[in-house]
Amino acid sequence: MKIREFGVEIWMNYYETKCVYNLAETCVESITLEQLLEFADKKDTILSELLPMKMTYGAIEGSDRLRNVVASLYETQKRENVVITHGAIGANALVYETLVERGDHVISVGPTYQQHHSIPESYGAEVSILQLREQNAFLPDLQELRELIRPGTRVIALNNPNNPTGSLMDRGLLEQIVEIARSVDAWLLCDEVYRGTNQTGDGFSVSIADLYEKGISTGSMSKTYSLAGLRLGWIVGPIELLQAVSIHRDYNTISVGMLDDHFASIALENRDKILARAHGLLRSNLATLDVWVAQEPRVSYIKPKAGTTALLKIDTELSSRDLCIQLLEAKGVMFTPGSAMDIEGYVRIGYANNPDVLKVGLVKVSEFLREVR
Ligand SMILES: Cc1ncc(COP(=O)(O)O)c(C=O)c1O
Repeated sequence: MKIREFGVEIWMNYYETKCVYNLAETCVESITLEQLLEFADKKDTILSELLPMKMTYGAIEGSDRLRNVVASLYETQKRENVVITHGAIGANALVYETLVERGDHVISVGPTYQQHHSIPESYGAEVSILQLREQNAFLPDLQELRELIRPGTRVIALNNPNNPTGSLMDRGLLEQIVEIARSVDAWLLCDEVYRGTNQTGDGFSVSIADLYEKGISTGSMSKTYSLAGLRLGWIVGPIELLQAVSIHRDYNTISVGMLDDHFASIALENRDKILARAHGLLRSNLATLDVWVAQEPRVSYIKPKAGTTALLKIDTELSSRDLCIQLLEAKGVMFTPGSAMDIEGYVRIGYANNPDVLKVGLVKVSEFLREVR
């Protein structure tokens, strides 16, 4: 089976270790195990929990403890609606593997994480892109969605909050999308890996799983919870869907690591502290970025409402890729070119990483923009 190369992953894998100022990172700055254990007040006791653990495959679908605490992130979900996966990347892949076949029709927003269109395409599905445009604050145009949808549309893929644009669909907009999906009985998969990162309030907005009987939410520990190293995610959805997923999951997952399951449970049980840190970083770093954009005559953007990334429009003749490579070579600053996400004319910044790296990195970008006309 052939599949398109994953543009962003190739870019990140190649340049991540070569840059000095990483403004391409999409996680809220990762935490150490020590920080996690301090948040949970377990630094002195953790070994007594870990040493007796017998390293079996563990609970196949994820431990009851973890599935319960994941369910508590949702308004109406129960443990039976949760299955644990290898990151959100594993969650999304399993959903497509379960639902999509050759000849199916899939609609995916774009730009988004490339899995959502390249995997169904690789299965021989016909994929329509619901384009998110700057003039619409990177929110989907519902009229366009009505024109794309048809009887038999199998899956509509959303990403809320959206990577790369930082746009956020509220309950009202999601409810209208649900109505459109329901009219043809389509599944609605919403990649919610950035859920919890809103710039206002408690950081959370409603999940598609709580709005629609065929709504599927995917999420993980990587972004909002700063624990990508656990490689732990989940699918939340109707029980019949999870039963179908489990047939595929038995072939490629068995279970996730017992230690990952254990530390994810600890983290989500103590999420108030992790989230307080994340919201502090997200909000003060976006303020830094906002001031910088305002005083840079050649840079503009749609200020993100959530997520960890924004698309910057830079007034230049260079392609997004050439701009990113020249910036890396001249100043050591790493952005991600829009072309890696099929949206030429922009670069993506990840602003939720270390605040000092962000501040110095932006100064270096300003120098670069003055030097390169
Ligand atoms: C929208 C989106 N979905 C899924 C993933 C994969 O996340 P995970 O680390 O949980 O596999 C990413 C990572 O960048 C992402 O941006």
